[in-house]
Amino acid sequence: VNPDDVTVHRQLDPARIGDLVELFRSAWWARTRDPAEVARAVAGSDLVVALVHEPDDRLVGFARVLTDFTYLATILDVIVAPDGRGAGLGARLMDTLVGDPDLAAVRSVELVCQPDLLPFYRQWGFTDQVGRSTLMRRTTDAGLIG
Ligand SMILES: CC(C)(COP(=O)(O)OP(=O)(O)OC[C@H]1O[C@@H](n2cnc3c(N)ncnc32)[C@H](O)[C@@H]1OP(=O)(O)O)[C@@H](O)C(=O)NCCC(=O)NCCS
Repeated sequence: VNPDDVTVHRQLDPARIGDLVELFRSAWWARTRDPAEVARAVAGSDLVVALVHEPDDRLVGFARVLTDFTYLATILDVIVAPDGRGAGLGARLMDTLVGDPDLAAVRSVELVCQPDLLPFYRQWGFTDQVGRSTLMRRTTDAGLIG
């Protein structure tokens, strides 16, 4: 994937839900998601960024945000297609979200990641120094348990 051929979209065309399900298959926490649930989750998100490879009109990157636009925003599902990784597209997703005017006044932006991605997110000022805070979760998602 040539990053010069990739454009940033601020919405996900419903016609691309199948592409997104396919992209999710490359991410360990989203592998089993089905189209109807993915469509509902996208519709229920406050901000969406989609990267489209124009020559073949293919979704090659995605991220979304849930937020109250004031105190908290949570970045979710940051994914670049396997054949597009290492070319700056993940940075394009993060630059777009972190630079979004709708998030400029939000006090805290949070995300959950695996330890190997700490250096990636530190580039945008994220830290794992969160005082005495600890993530707690109540889930029915077997993939998120230990
Ligand atoms: C994580 C992910 C989104 C990064 O996207 P990418 O397009 O490969 O990243 P980029 O090419 O934009 O990398 C930007 C910079 O971050 C660095 N970087 C990328 N992945 C990194 C990692 N795992 N650890 C440390 N640095 C990393 C790159 O070296 C690059 O640095 P540079 O500008 O100095 O060259 C992508 O690898 C991915 O989709 N992974 C699978 C899904 C996933 O785990 N998502 C994160 C969920 S929390």
